[in-house]
Amino acid sequence: MKLWAGRFHKELDQKTNDFNSSISFDSRMAKEDIEGSIAHATMLGACGVIDQAEAEKICAELQTILAELESGALSIDPTAEDIHTFVEGELTARLGAAGKRLHTARSRNDQVAVDVKLYLKKQCDALYDQVKDLIVVLCNKALLYKDAVMPGYTHMQRAQPVTFGHHLLAYAEMFQRDLSRLADTKKRMDECPLGSGALAGTTYPLDRDLTASLLGFAGPTNNSLDGVSDRDFCMELAADIAIAMVHLSRFSEEIILWCSWEFKFIELDDAFSTGSSIMPQKKNPDIAELVRGKSGRTIGDLTTLLTMMKGLPLAYKKDMQEDKEAIFDAVDTLRMCLTAFIPMIDTMKVLPQNMRKAAAKGFINATDCADYLVGKGLPFRDAYKITGELVAECIESGLTLETLPIEKYKEYNENFDTDIYGAISLETCVNGRKVTGGPAPQNVAAQAERVLKKLGAKE
Ligand code: ARG
Repeated sequence: MKLWAGRFHKELDQKTNDFNSSISFDSRMAKEDIEGSIAHATMLGACGVIDQAEAEKICAELQTILAELESGALSIDPTAEDIHTFVEGELTARLGAAGKRLHTARSRNDQVAVDVKLYLKKQCDALYDQVKDLIVVLCNKALLYKDAVMPGYTHMQRAQPVTFGHHLLAYAEMFQRDLSRLADTKKRMDECPLGSGALAGTTYPLDRDLTASLLGFAGPTNNSLDGVSDRDFCMELAADIAIAMVHLSRFSEEIILWCSWEFKFIELDDAFSTGSSIMPQKKNPDIAELVRGKSGRTIGDLTTLLTMMKGLPLAYKKDMQEDKEAIFDAVDTLRMCLTAFIPMIDTMKVLPQNMRKAAAKGFINATDCADYLVGKGLPFRDAYKITGELVAECIESGLTLETLPIEKYKEYNENFDTDIYGAISLETCVNGRKVTGGPAPQNVAAQAERVLKKLGAKE
């Protein structure tokens, strides 16, 4: 029997019922739905809208239903229209008239909004903790490899020397912004829509502050139409997730490159890589590739939500039932990806000798060579040009700036002396880059410590 049975003369067509139903994906909010109902019933009792004793009976039975669902003694009816209908139906089957009073001064429109918010607030916390774990892993690795010189790239061309620690901390910065976005999103979704009713509030004397505080919200929403029509919190969280997934995807791309034979900067642990069914020599970075691939679906989830909302006049429309699959998929995807990604990074073997070798090729100290001449009084543009000629000379003769004889240097400019070799050694180049935010080992160490401390992962 449908909730709206009074107005209708026929049962809903079976296939249409399946089409209309959201139970297959909203039953994951059973706990939140019951918590929301307990708070609502408590408030109705406290305000005298329903009898206090009846409110208590409702709350106790809802607790029992929740316990039975959790233990598996009660299972969710897959033909129910949605989780709200199921819980209310179950309550009414057990309590009769008292159960029927629960929905006083409430609509599924404010109910679903509160359920999704309660559920997503918890997911924000879970995601926050996972992203934080990743940052801690990155900082600890950065400390270990603070002086591992590697080539930094622009246009995928070796550009200037950095340290592996510095490179990892670049990702730590990105993930810290993800943390702050998650915290922000959670803060903005911290308003309780219950009491908005279907769209126009209610004539019952509700205490919305009480409901909000019972459910751990900072307060009630301020406008009943907005309370039931707002899905900004889904879009925002989906955007946060899509951005975090883009970060993971970029990182994955580097991991994939780094573990290729062409780079061999790292080796993934056996537990986090896979073999080939035909090529015995293969060790594939499947996890990183899957994470990169899955970033696409979270961008899709965000697009789904934005597109679903963009044409909707106020207030609730059934279109909005589509919010759940998209945002749940985004949440599940990021959680799953982090679960695999974090230990993969934690256990990867870093090969600093190979990074050092790659850094020795590609003239990544050319800028430092130019800076040497600037130190001798030349304008940077002239120094730049002379260094360019030196690089061309080296390429021609199969040498590097480190191996080019001093006589050759002097042919190009008389200011060169044997101290040039010290000035362009990769260690000098990296150690000298101690400007705030630079890759020098001492910077990396200080920055990693700062972040660990900020996250409470270190004294
Ligand atoms: N299953 C619905 C959803 O997820 C619940 C709200 C139904 N409200 C309504 N007026 N039909 O959006």
